[in-house]
Amino acid sequence: MVSVVILAAGRGKRMRSRTPKVLHPLLGKPLLAHGIEAALLLAPREMIVVASPIVSEAVSNWPFKGRFSTVIQNPALGTADAVLCGLSGLSSTNGTVLILPGDVPLVRSSTLKALLGYFDASQSVLTILGAEVEDPHGYGRVITTPSGEVTRIVEERDATEEEKAVGFINSGIIAVKGGALADALQMVESNNAQAEFYLTDLAAIFYERGLKVTAMRCEDPEEILGINDRYQLSEVQGRLLRRIIRAWQVEGVTFILPETVYLETEVEIGRDSVVEPGVFLRGQTRIGEACRIGSGSVIEDSVIGDGAIIKPYSVIEGSVVHGGAAIGPFAHLRPGSEIGQEVRVGNFVEVKKSKLEPGVKASHLTYIGDTTIGSGTNIGAGTITCNYDGRKKHPTTIGKDVFVGSNTALVAPVTVGDGATIAAGSVITKKVPPNTLAVGRARQQNIYRKLRRKKDK
Ligand code: UD1
Ligand code: CA
Repeated sequence: MVSVVILAAGRGKRMRSRTPKVLHPLLGKPLLAHGIEAALLLAPREMIVVASPIVSEAVSNWPFKGRFSTVIQNPALGTADAVLCGLSGLSSTNGTVLILPGDVPLVRSSTLKALLGYFDASQSVLTILGAEVEDPHGYGRVITTPSGEVTRIVEERDATEEEKAVGFINSGIIAVKGGALADALQMVESNNAQAEFYLTDLAAIFYERGLKVTAMRCEDPEEILGINDRYQLSEVQGRLLRRIIRAWQVEGVTFILPETVYLETEVEIGRDSVVEPGVFLRGQTRIGEACRIGSGSVIEDSVIGDGAIIKPYSVIEGSVVHGGAAIGPFAHLRPGSEIGQEVRVGNFVEVKKSKLEPGVKASHLTYIGDTTIGSGTNIGAGTITCNYDGRKKHPTTIGKDVFVGSNTALVAPVTVGDGATIAAGSVITKKVPPNTLAVGRARQQNIYRKLRRKKDK
């Protein structure tokens, strides 16, 4: 049985941020949530997150908050002190304790499983997940005997030149016998360059007691990349993004210039869809099959039906676009919009909290807010629903097969019946009954008069 302790109470000074490091978003999800999710896949007996007061407050609203508890470490005196705090939250230290830093988000749960297997099979008191890397700068180095036994871990700042040349680094992820942990943590001192209590001192403490300390090499060193500053955050984000895009490519999605696309972890994309350069897909967005997402479009928390086409530079938030619809270029769907099948929403059209039934066309320069539009209706260029009177929002209801002439202002609340026609340039303030022609504008007058002549000189 494994218990998990996640360390997330550090200040993250190197981020130079008011936000604690582990709450910085990585592809739409806080850094810390990535590690928590990987660890939850192990189905641990218990999970403790060691948090600062701010982090503890933040995680209390997270979706999987019921599956772990938090213990507050304040002040943050180092990783050993953090684990000691974590132990106080565990109901039992029997079995294995898996310690994960909250800033190593790329680790796969399969690797964590492999580490636990290695730990058991080697009968170690402590097993470090390590990796051989080209640039070990900033990480703790794992020092081993020629036979591969770990004698100690030395932090970058405390390392000699010779030790700095070691390319085998500590990921910070450690499996340890719970029973031996509390006692050994008490032995850790803070006589190092940072005057902190280092968890990594446990390696030497156990080794000197004649206990077996081992290190498992992580096959893919990318998994153990830590995040201490904003450069590393962008590096890790790039790698996670490539992983996610790769997975969607395997599922049958085409990315024309994948390195320009931003895609968050929860997004789903159907096969034969094409994602053009510079697209942002955020939040709980689901793209159907055989869609085309045009260059520069930003889609957040929205559902796009099969075969829909989103033309370049469209922004879609909190909306549903049904199959076969065409949106954009340069369209804006704001939250609460539902766009029916085969609807056309064209250039410079803004739709807010409105429902457009199948076959509606609003092709140019229009604002549609708090409106329902029946199937087959055509909204002429420049039509505006005047939904706001300065204090309240009011609804507009437009029936089926209506023809709204260009540059119409529909002053809400107002209703237009099925089959009605509205003359171009109308200001509609009253109900339009079905199948009528509404003309709400000043009548054109053509006035005949004598030609003006230049005065004879
Ligand atoms: C740590 C390791 C280093 C390893 C590296 C891998 C130590 C002393 N060093 O260094 O060997 O190569 O991770 O990324 O452990 N934290 C607390 N309370 C504290 C201090 C830290 O909860 O008092 C948390 C942080 O929020 C963070 C994690 O522990 O999530 C690691 O702390 P950090 O300061 O980033 O350690 P590193 O210097 O990266
Ligand atoms: Ca770190």
